[in-house]
Amino acid sequence: MAKRINVGTLISGGGTNLQAIIDACMADSIEDRIDARILFTGSDTPGVKGLDRAQKAGIDTFVVDYAEIIKSCKQGVDPGMLPPDFDMEEILEKQQLISVDPSRGGSAPNSIQMEKIEFFLKSRAIAERKLLDNILSHEIDLLVLAGFMRVLTPYFIDRLNTIEGQYRIMNIHPALLPSFPGTDGYGDTFRYGCRIGGCTVHFVDYGEDTGPIIGQKAFEIEAGDTLDDVKKKGLEKEWELYPACIQKFAESVC
Ligand code: GAR
Repeated sequence: MAKRINVGTLISGGGTNLQAIIDACMADSIEDRIDARILFTGSDTPGVKGLDRAQKAGIDTFVVDYAEIIKSCKQGVDPGMLPPDFDMEEILEKQQLISVDPSRGGSAPNSIQMEKIEFFLKSRAIAERKLLDNILSHEIDLLVLAGFMRVLTPYFIDRLNTIEGQYRIMNIHPALLPSFPGTDGYGDTFRYGCRIGGCTVHFVDYGEDTGPIIGQKAFEIEAGDTLDDVKKKGLEKEWELYPACIQKFAESVC
């Protein structure tokens, strides 16, 4: 048995993965229990069911309302709204979410596209600073994205991954990466006509769903399965995979 690690969680919705992790942290039997405790659950959306799940388990919660922040940024981003340590050049150089550098295979964005990219990075950094203000008031070993539907920019990632080469943010993705990154992994798997679907737990790096893979689970997609069947089969695998990957991390740091 490893030392218990302190985990923070971020969600956007129903929180069934969060529930699986809460249950694994609190399981009575040693075989089912993981060596982790959840210190908080944050959400980018108010009122989601995952927040109730956390509160029921006695876990602190907070909300950073991304939609509201992005809406207010659309009125104009005053430099005073940005975090004082925000450096656009540095973030543009590091980020791998949007192609801005022709030498990396994309075409150079025009001035209108560049304005959109900069708006994206600024508005997200404003939201991310608020996440960090909540997160960094706790001492966590690992941040777990449990159905958190926002990409994270280098502004946020660098303030958690403070030790070179050590990843501290974990994500679950509803597809067998590197296939089908993005926002609709099960939908993309289903529409492609795959006969095997799956889920992946990976560390978060500067790209979208590109970081080192920690674990994967696959399931068969049978003739006649609907998209709902695929999602149901996938989620059941996620609930097994995520606690197991957190346990693997706990054992690796102790
Ligand atoms: C899960 O299927 C998870 O893999 C997916 O959101 C769902 C959240 O369900 N995450 C992503 O797509 C991340 N890009 P839950 O709220 O019931 O845990």
